[in-house]
Amino acid sequence: MRIGIPKEIKNHEYRVALTPDAVAALVRQGHEVAVQPTAGVGAGFTGADYEQAGAKLLLDARSVYNFAELIIKVKEPQPEEYSLLRSDHTLFCFLHLAANPGLENYLKVHRTRYIPFEQVRDGQGGLPILAPMSEIAGRLAVQAGAHWLEKAQGGAGVLLAGVPGVEPGKVLVIGAGNVGTQAAIMAAGQGARVVVLDRNRAALQRIQQLLGFRVETALASPEVIRRHLPDADLVVGAVLVPGQPAPKVISRDDLQRLRPGRVLVDVAIDEGGCFATSRPTTHTEPVFEVEGRLHYCVANMPGVVPQTASRALSAMVLRYLPEVLAGTSA
Ligand SMILES: NC(=O)c1ccc[n+]([C@@H]2O[C@H](COP(=O)([O-])OP(=O)(O)OC[C@H]3O[C@@H](n4cnc5c(N)ncnc54)[C@H](O)[C@@H]3O)[C@@H](O)[C@H]2O)c1
Repeated sequence: MRIGIPKEIKNHEYRVALTPDAVAALVRQGHEVAVQPTAGVGAGFTGADYEQAGAKLLLDARSVYNFAELIIKVKEPQPEEYSLLRSDHTLFCFLHLAANPGLENYLKVHRTRYIPFEQVRDGQGGLPILAPMSEIAGRLAVQAGAHWLEKAQGGAGVLLAGVPGVEPGKVLVIGAGNVGTQAAIMAAGQGARVVVLDRNRAALQRIQQLLGFRVETALASPEVIRRHLPDADLVVGAVLVPGQPAPKVISRDDLQRLRPGRVLVDVAIDEGGCFATSRPTTHTEPVFEVEGRLHYCVANMPGVVPQTASRALSAMVLRYLPEVLAGTSA
């Protein structure tokens, strides 16, 4: 198969979907691979690295799309890329179509086949390509939240760890899956008071087994969420209902319960966001305020840690590609 790897053009998206090692493996399997020379630079891979791995270097995105039958990239095509897609292309990347009906419609009208990374399932029903990116986003969520809680950034001026003599901040994590678990680990590691809510008790059991009494858990309901907002300093939105827009777990009215200067990180923004007041932001302008509460809603959070994220993503893409091509996964 002829595989094309274009350079990502989404705002501050530095990941590449396949590393040179993964490309070498595909070439050994008999595939032909074309790469834009700068596709991997953000992740630390030069065009020469890809050439050595057996890829053909093609200067611009149009040449890569023209060459390929299968396009493997990280993020959904941006509007500037739509016209490069053909009806004989298969697109394999994150798409999050529930939050992007315009793109879904475009792909259907132009009969481009697509296999969203976030719908590829493993034998246990897990989402193995999404999972490592979620784990990264969960870890970054606490890092980002702590940063925007600083007074100089517009936050209330709370140190999540506290200090001897002053209690720590409270991190409320809604959703105890891949994102939520890693956010809870990071927050507990910083010494914050951590509360995790999920509507699935088994997910809460897993997190409690992992973190013991360093985390409090409760079954999520609108009442329970409302009860936990008044003393929260950082709220991480980490819910997912696969294939559907993210459920709204905090309404505009609920937001008033959170104190001003507190931070909401809506990791589920790629599926439309789980706070009623969220809208997508970029790494260039990551936050906005609604009535004094800071919202961080970046839809490609792992894009800024490409050295880590590209290797994690590439391994899973390579692992599941044969099943995807055979139609036995996704
Ligand atoms: N912004 C980014 O850069 C970025 C990166 C990676 C993942 N994500 C997104 O983060 C979200 C979470 O991903 P994940 O891998 O952790 O999913 P997951 O399936 O591992 O976990 C989601 C959890 O949400 C819970 N849940 C669903 N509805 C709920 C509700 N109404 N109330 C409480 N809990 C509820 C589920 O029971 C589940 O435990 C997804 O939308 C994913 O696409 C975003």
